[in-house]
Amino acid sequence: MGWNVFVTRLLPQRAMDLLKQECGTMDVNPHDRVLTREELVAGVKGRDGVLCLLTDAIDDEVFEAAGPQCKIFANYAVGYNNIDVEAARRRGVRITNTPGVLTDATADMAWALLFAAARRICESHNFLRAGQWGGWGPMQFLGQDITGRTLGVVGAGRIGANFALKSAGFRMKVLYADVEPNQELESKLNARRVPLDELLAQSDFVSIHVPLMPETTHLIGARELSLMKPSAVLVNTSRGPVVDEKALVEALREKRIAAAGLDAYEEEPATAPGLTELPNAVTCPHTASATVETRTKMAVMAASDLLAVLRGEEPQNVVV
Ligand code: GLV
Ligand code: GLV
Repeated sequence: MGWNVFVTRLLPQRAMDLLKQECGTMDVNPHDRVLTREELVAGVKGRDGVLCLLTDAIDDEVFEAAGPQCKIFANYAVGYNNIDVEAARRRGVRITNTPGVLTDATADMAWALLFAAARRICESHNFLRAGQWGGWGPMQFLGQDITGRTLGVVGAGRIGANFALKSAGFRMKVLYADVEPNQELESKLNARRVPLDELLAQSDFVSIHVPLMPETTHLIGARELSLMKPSAVLVNTSRGPVVDEKALVEALREKRIAAAGLDAYEEEPATAPGLTELPNAVTCPHTASATVETRTKMAVMAASDLLAVLRGEEPQNVVV
């Protein structure tokens, strides 16, 4: 009790109420935008705990600014590449994330992007609204069949496996690439674990579900894109830097692959030059977990773990 916490951006009310009930002081970023570096460093000063976002770079300087009394940074995201985990470990600061609760929403979004890109939904929607539709045409907006095709899942962890399992109704052949085998995918879908290059060469749809790490940075670059079929669709709901975005723009422009559905970018909120002018790129603003239910669960999860650490209890979702 009497704890002093900082929230780097306004979150769903249920989580704000939870924190308010138990904390003596709770300050929330008053702006509807990401805090500047200076505001972040000033905001964390003297706090017992901080609830932060994937848009906040939490490094050693931020831990230093917070001070030695600060016990936890609860990250409102499943990915925690925005946090210097080693620095937290050295300083004994706990880090938590929000796994599980956003798995379905993110996998659903990967499907939404896959469908939108394969069936040219955004392109044809814009065409109709621009008053360009002169009537039904046999050759208009021909896209790709989805049912019965080959699905390539890159990273078969929680989200990738959930995404793959949702393909059952579309009777797809499923390939996956991962450092670990996934028995559930193999037994339920007859999925086959293959090297990434083979997956890229054989899949009609490639969806990326790996965390961002040094080993996965530019995992999909010009060489990998050149292995894909000209009719293939690439979907990325993970982190932008997993794909070389400039190389992707080239590949889409030259129709070396058919289309892409993207929810993450290398330099958010910027996108690679030319990307948003391409009719065969569906581009969402990092909204894969953006449903009312999911964002509420994420916020409650992050707030609960923050409070658990302040009470001296073990948090549920430990990064360190
Ligand atoms: C969203 O990108 C997340 O990591 O939760
Ligand atoms: C298309 O509208 C069809 O009826 O085949």
